[in-house]
Amino acid sequence: MHTIFELQQLIEKAINKVEYPTHPSKLYEPISYIMRLGGKRIRPVLLLLSSELFNNDATKAIEAALAIETFHNFTLIHDDIMDNAPLRRGQDTVHIKWGVNNAILSGDVMMVEANKHLTNLDASILKNALHCFNSTAQGVCEGQQLDMEFEQRTDVSIMEYINMIRLKTAVLVGGAMKLGAIVGGASEEDANHLYDFGENFGIAFQLQDDILDVYGDPVKFGKQVGGDIISNKQTFLLLRLKELVQENDLTLLEAQYSNTDYLTKIESITSLYNKYKIRELAVTEMKRSLDIAFTALEKVSIEAAKKNELILLAESLLDREN
Ligand code: IPE
Ligand code: IPE
Ligand code: MG
Ligand code: MG
Ligand code: MG
Repeated sequence: MHTIFELQQLIEKAINKVEYPTHPSKLYEPISYIMRLGGKRIRPVLLLLSSELFNNDATKAIEAALAIETFHNFTLIHDDIMDNAPLRRGQDTVHIKWGVNNAILSGDVMMVEANKHLTNLDASILKNALHCFNSTAQGVCEGQQLDMEFEQRTDVSIMEYINMIRLKTAVLVGGAMKLGAIVGGASEEDANHLYDFGENFGIAFQLQDDILDVYGDPVKFGKQVGGDIISNKQTFLLLRLKELVQENDLTLLEAQYSNTDYLTKIESITSLYNKYKIRELAVTEMKRSLDIAFTALEKVSIEAAKKNELILLAESLLDREN
């Protein structure tokens, strides 16, 4: 089995080797830009790790890993348009650099590029792999739609929120792990247990992303800190605050929703999060999801020692700063 570091290098090298057409340049430049902007490469690494649980040769799963990372980067381009985000991985977002129309179209082509990677998989698993990829991709779109709709609502429940992040984020993590298992030759049962691990870990991962959006170090985070607060995102933090807030603070909070002085808005809402210890509550929720993930992992029918790398990676990702 490879170490996580080796798998990261493997995927990085494979990404750098992919050649996109050159014309029209404004269609393809954004693709190389976003793909080579860094990023943690969590999904492809999890996919390769998942595959190696069943088959020592992770190189067989590289095309699947490229498909998932390309799809993920496509969703980031479109997400940044939808979230009006100026920064991604410490650099200008694609729509800031090339304009919204280009960002839409380059994103669309990335979906095609992701599919092209998948067609390189062995014919014997292709149908299964495509089914997994397609339902994952559809889930992400459903989640993004809910995320947008929630910005206009004031009555979102925590349950609705968890379902929304399950769709926009966690199904892709689960899908990546299932795809890795499929390529590695796992039984359907084991592939589904790995999906469950990935999905529950993915929920914890998005909770940490929501925490970092408020508490991240602007340099390390690489995205605009406070972006969720500015756009009234219905995150776990805001929903929990609304449940706990006392009458006088509620008036204060509600006055901030329409405040266009963003610095004051971020400061006021963050100090309410601090006052009600919302960050701690979010961390508890994150650990709850991680425990569910580990229970699913226990069910995978391979020796416990092989799962250690996965457990360590999952734990370290919930301690991350970007
Ligand atoms: C960002 O994903 C979108 C979320 C689901 C939170 P990552 O945090 O994996 O972003 P990169 O790929 O490492 O930049
Ligand atoms: C991530 O949600 C979901 C997708 C990109 C599909 P966010 O909007 O929280 O992701 P970041 O924080 O911009 O990376
Ligand atoms: Mg978003
Ligand atoms: Mg976003
Ligand atoms: Mg976020």
